[in-house]
Order: sequence, then structure tokens, then C-alpha cells
Amino acid sequence: HGSAWQAVSEMRRSIVGELNLLQKKIMKDGVIKAGNVLKVDSFLNHQIDVPFISELGKEFKKLFGDRQVDKILTIEASGIGIACLTAVYFGVPVLFAKKSAGSNMDKDVYEVKSFTHNKVNHVVASKKYLNAGEHILIMDDFLANGCAVQGLIDLVKQAGGIVEGVGICIEKGFQGGGDELRASGIDVKSLAIIEKMDAETGTITFR
Ligand code: G4P
Repeated sequence: HGSAWQAVSEMRRSIVGELNLLQKKIMKDGVIKAGNVLKVDSFLNHQIDVPFISELGKEFKKLFGDRQVDKILTIEASGIGIACLTAVYFGVPVLFAKKSAGSNMDKDVYEVKSFTHNKVNHVVASKKYLNAGEHILIMDDFLANGCAVQGLIDLVKQAGGIVEGVGICIEKGFQGGGDELRASGIDVKSLAIIEKMDAETGTITFR
């Protein structure tokens, strides 16, 4: 029943003490838009709140600290911030896949086709920077249908690398991309998983 769900969400909102750092920030600064879109461009993917995102980087270091991580792989543009602010704690480089080969880009690249917004993106990474036997942590700001992450996994596999895990800031659980990856054996860890959100009432339910 709709109003019962709303009451539950309201109750959850009020138990802010039980929310983690990112969930609290989403409650405070996130804006729910029609079409199941969560705007977080005041701190995550347009303007970047560097001290705050750096705290999320520390969280990822705790979550994946027992893994061998030689490099963090993300995709331009919005993944770069969280990837860099996590890499500081791992002391490793960040490689960001590019959505199309620029004129200055090496011609010797691994390439995948990634479908986003019904548009085909050619995602590339130079062969120089993805190597066989490298242990890779994949990161991104959002995980929705999982197309971007699937593409990144494919790049690592082409290079003969090992995907150690996937670190995501905000997963839209209801779009299923994360669970599909987990079912295929990938260690996906998301700091906030949104199960449900409602633009009209402004309520968010976290998993
Ligand atoms: P997928 O990779 O998980 O399949 O994502 P999807 O195609 O569904 O989403 C396309 C783009 O929209 C991605 O950014 C993704 O991060 C972003 N996105 C999806 N849902 C939301 C949302 O609720 N809020 C916000 N703010 N972004 C969302 P992109 O095209 O790769 O762009 P960029 O920002 O990384 O350059």
C-alpha cells in the first residue's frame, strides 16, 4: 500500500543515525527528478565536494583493503573524481577509459561498445596502461543498468587482467545492473543502494 510505504520511508528518513555517510548526504543534498533520476551534482558528479568524496575514498579502502589492487579503472567523466580520491589511499594510479578515441589517443587500444541511453559509445583504453596479470579495482559514481561497468570488465579481460572488485558510490538497485554483476561472481560494493525513490514525495528507500 502506497501510504504505508511512504510512512516506512519517512520513518527510515528519521532514523538518520542508521544511515551511512553517503546516504545521509543524499538525504540532505540529493534531488529526486522525474524518471527515477537522482541529482547529486552539488557534491559528486558536477561540483565535487573533495573533502567529502575523499571520505568515501577511505571507505572504499576499508571495503577493498584486503584485495590486491594494482590500478583503479574508471570511465570518463564522472567516475574520475571518486577513483582518484580512492587511489590516494591505495597508492595506485587511476586509468579512465575514454568514450571515444580522440585524435591524440594512441591507436593501440582495447575497445568495447557500450550502450548508454540507447546510444552506442566506443569505450577505449590504451594497451600501454592495461596489462596482463594486473589486479584491477573498477569504480564509478553511479551503477544503473551496469553497461558502463560491463564495458570496463570487458576491457580488463581483453588485456588479461584480473577484476578484483567493483566499487560504486550510488547503485540504483531497482535497475538491476548490480545484482546481475553479483550473480556473475563479481564483488560489487556500493556505498548507497537505492531501492526506491519518489520524486513527488521526495522519499528515498535504501537497501
Ligand atoms: P549504466 O552504465 O549503469 O548502464 O548506466 P545508464 O546507461 O543507465 O546511465 C547512463 C548515464 O547516466 C551514466 O553516466 C550514469 O552514471 C548516469 N546515471 C544513471 N542514473 C543516474 C541518476 O539517477 N542520476 C545521475 N546523476 N546520473 C545517473 P554517463 O553517461 O557515463 O556520464 P558521465 O557523467 O560519467 O560523463
